[in-house]
Amino acid sequence: MDNSSQIIEASHILQSGGVVAFPTETVYGLGANVFNTEALKHIFHIKKRPVDNPLIVHIASLDMLPALVTHISPYNQKLIDHFWPGPLGIVFPKSNLIPDIVTAHLDTVVIRFPSNRIAQELINTCGFPIAAPSVNPSGKPSSTHHDHVKDYFGDHVFVIEGDASSIGIESTVITTLDNPRILRQGAVTQAELEQVLGIPLDNTSETLHLPQSPGMKYPHYAPNAPIHLVAIQDDILDIITTYTKQGYTVGALVSSEIYHHLPDSVIGFDLGSRDNYQTLSARLYNGLHFFDSSPVTLIIAESFQPIGMGVALMDRLSRAASNTPI
Ligand code: TXA
Ligand code: MG
Repeated sequence: MDNSSQIIEASHILQSGGVVAFPTETVYGLGANVFNTEALKHIFHIKKRPVDNPLIVHIASLDMLPALVTHISPYNQKLIDHFWPGPLGIVFPKSNLIPDIVTAHLDTVVIRFPSNRIAQELINTCGFPIAAPSVNPSGKPSSTHHDHVKDYFGDHVFVIEGDASSIGIESTVITTLDNPRILRQGAVTQAELEQVLGIPLDNTSETLHLPQSPGMKYPHYAPNAPIHLVAIQDDILDIITTYTKQGYTVGALVSSEIYHHLPDSVIGFDLGSRDNYQTLSARLYNGLHFFDSSPVTLIIAESFQPIGMGVALMDRLSRAASNTPI
């Protein structure tokens, strides 16, 4: 589909201080001009986002970077060279041009250069970087399709109707400023980062006392029904039967391998083969949105091996399940 007229309309809205939703390869973003404090306030208002949770700044050319940061370290330069454009947010020391509302008064800023063509065209048409969190009321699953944005915000938010997000999980966020470590898991894996940086990342339990990404302390990705995440060694079909007998209207968020054995009474969502982490990740939020428009009272979710991109997948699933009362 040709999105050029929607990109132009969106750029006019952004230039006049409004907010728009736009596709990226990870999830859809809710964007505003990074230099316009009043516009940025709308983002926090629309999402009901706590003001101490900073935003990611999106650029679409490396020329936009020097104005936003005070320093590009050799480690960060390696990350830029290797992973941009792509699903990696990098922490930099921020310049004075970035309003405090973007960074929640931190002296650092997370910057990302998305690979999605529409996101790039939008930023380049505007001529300024766009600050954008994921498009969802705070705490709810992110949007990976423009239909999700419409389900959440109806006509209140203009959305560029791009393709579904190909990755489907938010970017990896990394800092190399102090103790190089991952602040948020995502499509770029620890092994890939370590290979490029040539050092091991410090994600051991001793570093857990260090401040992580501020947003990670809030509840996340939770659909309306509680999620029960079944341990990898447990028999998920048995557990589904038990809860169905207890009177729950059960939804099953499972791999194809399990999906094909579900009893008829269960509302299933097929995440694809359990060996294909790309597909599992790309479908995850679709599954959560699907259950939000279904009558399920409990979602039983399958666990996957936390290997490679499975780490980010399990991070999101366990956060989504953390509200479960059972
Ligand atoms: O994939 C993505 O990154 C998507 C798309 C739209 O680009 N955006 C996104 O934004 O996921 P959001 O706001 O949902 O998540 C931003 C995360 C939060 O966990 C926030 O705490 C963290 O990045 N963050 C932002 N600035 C930070 C900083 N200066 N230091 C540490 N963490 C930061
Ligand atoms: Mg988010």
